[in-house]
Amino acid sequence: MTASSLSFRLAVLFVIAGMAMGIGMAASQDHSIMPAHAHLNLLGWVSLFLFGIYYERRPALDKSRLALIQVIVWSAGTVLLTIAVAALHLGYAAFDPVAALASLIVLVAMVLFAYFVFKPARDIASSSTPHLTPAE
Ligand code: HEM
Repeated sequence: MTASSLSFRLAVLFVIAGMAMGIGMAASQDHSIMPAHAHLNLLGWVSLFLFGIYYERRPALDKSRLALIQVIVWSAGTVLLTIAVAALHLGYAAFDPVAALASLIVLVAMVLFAYFVFKPARDIASSSTPHLTPAE
């Protein structure tokens, strides 16, 4: 599977969960987990979908294992951060170190993405695609 298709698939799953959380907050009139809802939607839907668009526009990078790892690490960090932030706002202070760990996981994934942005895709992709020059 390419990094973009994994990004798009996980992003829609995250936003469905995020919207359900939002509806749950609105229906119960208890907004205490609002920061978890906001993080799930912004990391899991908006950012992940943007990663997918970026990867899709760079086919060599999209097929690379490192890009797939970036999406997996980001998504795992998002799940962990959402759970930890929700638990903290529900009064479970013991989740503080989990939130700290999760924040470092998403930071690592973002640094990896920054590396892709600064480094040309052909240097990252394991399988190099032939560069064809159109005939004159
Ligand atoms: C069915 C869809 C959704 C529902 C029912 C919903 C519901 C809510 C509710 C009830 C709040 C708490 C507001 C407050 O306490 O002031 C909230 C906050 C928030 N939501 Fe959603 N939401 C939905 C979708 C989304 C999506 C798709 C995003 C992002 C792409 C998003 C981003 C946010 C953010 C950033 C906040 C925090 C706003 C603030 O700091 O005041 N929500 N949402």
